[in-house]
Amino acid sequence: MEKKRAIVTGGSRGIGKALVERLLKEGWEVCTCSRKEEDLTKLEEELRRPRGLYRKVCNLGERESAKSFVMFCLERMGGIELLVNNAAILGERLPIEEYPEEVWEEVIRVNLNGVFYVTKYCLPHMGEGSFIVNLSSGAGKRPAPYWGAYAASKFGVEGFSLLLAEELKERGIRVYALNPGATRTQMRAKAYPSEDPKTLKTPDKVAEFLLKLIKSKAPSGSYDFRD
Ligand SMILES: NC(=O)c1ccc[n+]([C@@H]2O[C@H](COP(=O)([O-])OP(=O)(O)OC[C@H]3O[C@@H](n4cnc5c(N)ncnc54)[C@H](OP(=O)(O)O)[C@@H]3O)[C@@H](O)[C@H]2O)c1
Repeated sequence: MEKKRAIVTGGSRGIGKALVERLLKEGWEVCTCSRKEEDLTKLEEELRRPRGLYRKVCNLGERESAKSFVMFCLERMGGIELLVNNAAILGERLPIEEYPEEVWEEVIRVNLNGVFYVTKYCLPHMGEGSFIVNLSSGAGKRPAPYWGAYAASKFGVEGFSLLLAEELKERGIRVYALNPGATRTQMRAKAYPSEDPKTLKTPDKVAEFLLKLIKSKAPSGSYDFRD
């Protein structure tokens, strides 16, 4: 791969942030987003305004917002060799019959529609040898009662990744669904408030694993984090 240009959605904290940091260190240009300007400013400051980092506020659950984010990235970088669909929201943990419709709709909009929008808008600009990584979850691989829309969206992400991999085989674009497993982030703390975060691996471990997958040119498919 000659050029190294990545889009990482949801880079303001957690796994996305670790990935942004790691990619920059390894010489990639990176374009990222979140819904909050102040968090993106904080990210930039923490990383000491590195060269090659671009960021934009957007809401990936809204089609036009997702489109303008991708267009922004393309204007800055000119192309993409790596797309990481990382941004997601948890929603509620409730039985289906009690699950609020508006929360369901928002989770599906962000976690599933958002992945579709960003991927669709990036694809015309991705060539042979590039990669798409979609952050999935154990809740998208085995039934996880009371995980509601989150679980349904992640089953969707798994399926989307596998069908996309088939469609892109001929073009030489690899597609991974990656289940990061329990990781020390805000989302995990919200899902398991009584858990001690110190017992969990840090997000940079996931970033490291993801980079390893790419460097080894692993075949397209569904992967679980391994130490
Ligand atoms: N942590 C775990 O244990 C774990 C386990 C399994 C799977 N995962 C998956 O790994 C990925 C990263 O999770 P994480 O734990 O790092 O989550 P996190 O700490 O909650 O970070 C999520 C990131 O996505 C952004 N985001 C959320 N909704 C967005 C939207 N509508 N538009 C744009 N950006 C948005 C957030 O910023 P704003 O809120 O400011 O928008 C934030 O930067 C997710 O796909 C998650 O489902 C995580």
